[in-house]
Amino acid sequence: MQNHIRNFSIIAHIDHGKSTLADRMLEITGTIEKRKMREQVLDQMDLERERGITIKMQPVRMDHTVGGTPYVLNLIDTPGHIDFSYEVSRAIKAVEGAVLLVDATQGVQAQTLTVLEMARASGLTIIPVVNKVDLPFAQVHETKDQIAKLLGVSHGSILEVSGKTGQGVLELLSAVIERVPPPVSDYPETRSSRTLIFDFEYSKHKGVVVYGRVLDGSIKTGDLLTFCALGESFTVLEVGTFSPEKTACDSLSHGEIGYIVTGIKKAIQASVGDTLTHKHDKLPPIAGYQEVQPLVWASIYPEGQDDFVLLRQALERLKLSDSSLSFEEEASGTLGRGFRVGFLGMLHLEIISERLKREHNLSLVIASPTITYEVVRTGGEREIIYNPALFPEANDIEKIFEPWVIATIITPPEYLGDLMVMFHEHEANVVGIDLFGDNRNEILLEMPLRELMRNFFDQLKSTTSGYASLSYKLSGLREADVVRLDVLVAEDRVAAFSRIVTRARAEREAQDVVERLKNLLPRQMFDFKIQGKAMGRILASRAMSGIKKDVTDYLYGGDITRKMKLREKQKKGKKKMKAVGRVNIPNDVFLKVMKEE
Ligand code: GTP
Repeated sequence: MQNHIRNFSIIAHIDHGKSTLADRMLEITGTIEKRKMREQVLDQMDLERERGITIKMQPVRMDHTVGGTPYVLNLIDTPGHIDFSYEVSRAIKAVEGAVLLVDATQGVQAQTLTVLEMARASGLTIIPVVNKVDLPFAQVHETKDQIAKLLGVSHGSILEVSGKTGQGVLELLSAVIERVPPPVSDYPETRSSRTLIFDFEYSKHKGVVVYGRVLDGSIKTGDLLTFCALGESFTVLEVGTFSPEKTACDSLSHGEIGYIVTGIKKAIQASVGDTLTHKHDKLPPIAGYQEVQPLVWASIYPEGQDDFVLLRQALERLKLSDSSLSFEEEASGTLGRGFRVGFLGMLHLEIISERLKREHNLSLVIASPTITYEVVRTGGEREIIYNPALFPEANDIEKIFEPWVIATIITPPEYLGDLMVMFHEHEANVVGIDLFGDNRNEILLEMPLRELMRNFFDQLKSTTSGYASLSYKLSGLREADVVRLDVLVAEDRVAAFSRIVTRARAEREAQDVVERLKNLLPRQMFDFKIQGKAMGRILASRAMSGIKKDVTDYLYGGDITRKMKLREKQKKGKKKMKAVGRVNIPNDVFLKVMKEE
């Protein structure tokens, strides 16, 4: 049986057509009936379908017969956006082969290189494929040239397909069967089992459901299993495969990819990369995945404190299916109790906040996202700061370190001049420029992560009319010249608006945020100021005048001294209000400030 299993993944740069190709494979193998077929069927989340992007990897089992021999093909479709590359790294560990897909109208892009590197590091068999060959402006030959150079293979071994029309897809399935090796067990004789967990799901009825790749032995309903790292045990309630919806079966044997229903309903700290084994006949755990390092952090608070527990539960559930998410409880004077949540990028942040709202019906306040800084205090102790509001005062800081990244950009050469200007503005150092293929350049950059998060990607796209692509990875810490910029509203510091900025940009940033708030904050009954403060100085200030109300309106004529008395009383009242006055900042202002940034 195992000789007839092939496990593979489709990897590519964003939008090069993975999900569409997967659709054709499902159709050709009859896994999904034609009448039930819809576009990008494996993108099951509403958000994925609305935005046309894959967020989560999705496994599916296909039966396919070649030359009279039936085969089981387990495919894991993966996302292309760099924020979700952790999904790709997990999918890769569960398979033996990868279809490396390159769009014939785009050629090899930055993210193609990153996913290829991941697949190579895991020792996968790589099947190079040029996609979208149906398009009139497809540059099949040039794209093959790039791939051939990259992989050191001949043009002949690179397949041509169209995920749209289905051209070449049958041949691709045959190539998967021919080139990808069948799974091999390290413990062929074992009565126990080992399963690598690559994903989780939580179902109200079934509790925690594990998605795993059985590496050795087999699992059936009723088996007593243990999570190796977690130490928690459970009796298997059901096992099954993805077709693509969950379909129960008798057992899962080595080499197979499927799901295991644990029935565990409490919150457990299980993580992907953990190994499942039989409780009374343990096998050693498999080396799991690398811990992910969040790149940006944002504080998330429920709009009403009553929802705090619900927010915690929602984050725990989301973490089960998205192990790259990390969070810790924190408290803020103005916002109450909430969480500091770590993300792999701004799109990840956006998707998670959207899922919290939609899937869990929560109204949230999200503070300005930030990266982490390592601060050495004057006393010498080091501290990692995740929240700008907790950044120490300037006189308590000896040194500050911040993360840097190494970025790869692939671009047509005509944009190089404009790009250099943009790199300069973002403090990026060019480490090298190489020719990439015949008509493009590959640029290697070093830059602070802080600058990468400052709209770098959008600016790259607009500077190059969408032609350049980007990938990056963390490269280490370097000393930073940054300061904490506070926002004061009616003399009160609003913690959620604090941010870390470079000393050189502090004044501009202060003016920007003050101006933005002036347009967003509602006027009060009294005058107040919005100020930006850093390095102990007020760098920007705007006055908001109080709402004027004629308190004598209701008087008909009469004695002028009555009017004067009333106005005097109003003046005193306003003065008092100003003295104790706090501006109540509506929650949507926090969101609007973040959105506009
Ligand atoms: P992410 O998972 O978000 O990275 O995207 P993806 O790689 O799964 O790409 P997807 O399948 O969503 O396709 C991106 C776009 O290219 C869609 O508009 C598809 O209709 C289109 N597309 C995909 N394959 C082909 C093809 O072979 N020919 C043509 N003409 N268009 C294609």
